[in-house]
Amino acid sequence: GFPQHVKIVEVGPRDGLQNEKVFVPTSVKIELINRLSEAGLPAIEVTSFVSSRWVPQMSDHTEVMQGIRKYPGVRYPVLTPNMQGFNSAIEAGATEISVFGAASQSFSEKNINCNIEESMKKFEDVVKAACNLSLPVRGYVSCALGCPYEGNISAQKVAEVSKRLYSMGCYEVSLGDTIGVGTPGSMRKMLGAVMKEIPVNSLAVHCHDTYGQALANILTALEMGVSVVDCAVAGLGGCPYAKGATGNVATEDVIYMLNGMGIHTGVNLYKVMEAGHFICSALNKKTNSKAAQASFVP
Ligand code: HMG
Ligand code: MG
Repeated sequence: GFPQHVKIVEVGPRDGLQNEKVFVPTSVKIELINRLSEAGLPAIEVTSFVSSRWVPQMSDHTEVMQGIRKYPGVRYPVLTPNMQGFNSAIEAGATEISVFGAASQSFSEKNINCNIEESMKKFEDVVKAACNLSLPVRGYVSCALGCPYEGNISAQKVAEVSKRLYSMGCYEVSLGDTIGVGTPGSMRKMLGAVMKEIPVNSLAVHCHDTYGQALANILTALEMGVSVVDCAVAGLGGCPYAKGATGNVATEDVIYMLNGMGIHTGVNLYKVMEAGHFICSALNKKTNSKAAQASFVP
């Protein structure tokens, strides 16, 4: 049945902004994150310690990490693909990191410039270094429900990569529908395979909403016992290495659904909507959140 409590992992400041063409001022990123902390979100992905040549939008990672107010009890993970990123993240004061792999060979090459096997070797080094400092590590598996280059990805391959990340020490594995092509059918099949390898309380789902299936896919995952959901305020987001893919499911819409189901999140929906309004005004964009469009009056 459905979980009683769901942990929302807010990825807006990272996934939501990484694909923005125009550089978002560091002060805006910092204010967004502070507002999200205010709203009671338990985990906020802050930035990425990746190459500034590859993803210029995240080049202010150190300033953002050091500029935000760190609320007690809130976790602030950052993406670190390799030891160079890990070392910079630690220097900037990060206390939780994420490694990000893929179930698709082509996506791995395009996204992090190495194949799956090579990526796992790099992640092992990063996870070991994090464990030495007692830092928790999240692991992502991109293309869990389809790949922009290869199309279908087998549930078996997703399970294999997930198991690898879990076995090396990731406390949570987030299954990414990178291009938002999944349906409740493919979500159920993929999760069934992954849950044979990893306890369900160590799984998260990360749904992009390209085909409008994200809420249905999340509901399917919740029904199967998943209790961690990644989402982005205002439905911002996209991946530079997944052309045509749109934003993550909107945090506001997920919380609205969970509130209606009586599932506890500890998040203040109105304050998330205010944060969404703030960032959409700064980006001069219309929100992708249906709940915010329907009910939010600034
Ligand atoms: P590389 O070029 O293969 O690295 O990049 P390298 O080790 O060959 O080094 C080449 C240059 O990169 C060197 O600089 C290094 O210093 C530099 P140079 O001497 O040429 O001036 N470099 C770095 N600089 C900063 N930070 C680092 C770093 N590592 C090397 N950590 C790398 C490999 C992974 C860094 C590169 O391919 C990259 O930055 N890729 C971008 C990855 C990314 O951010 N993708 C988007 C996030 S993933 C996502 O959105 C999916 C997700 O949301 C889940 C889902 O939806 O599925 C998580
Ligand atoms: Mg993503």
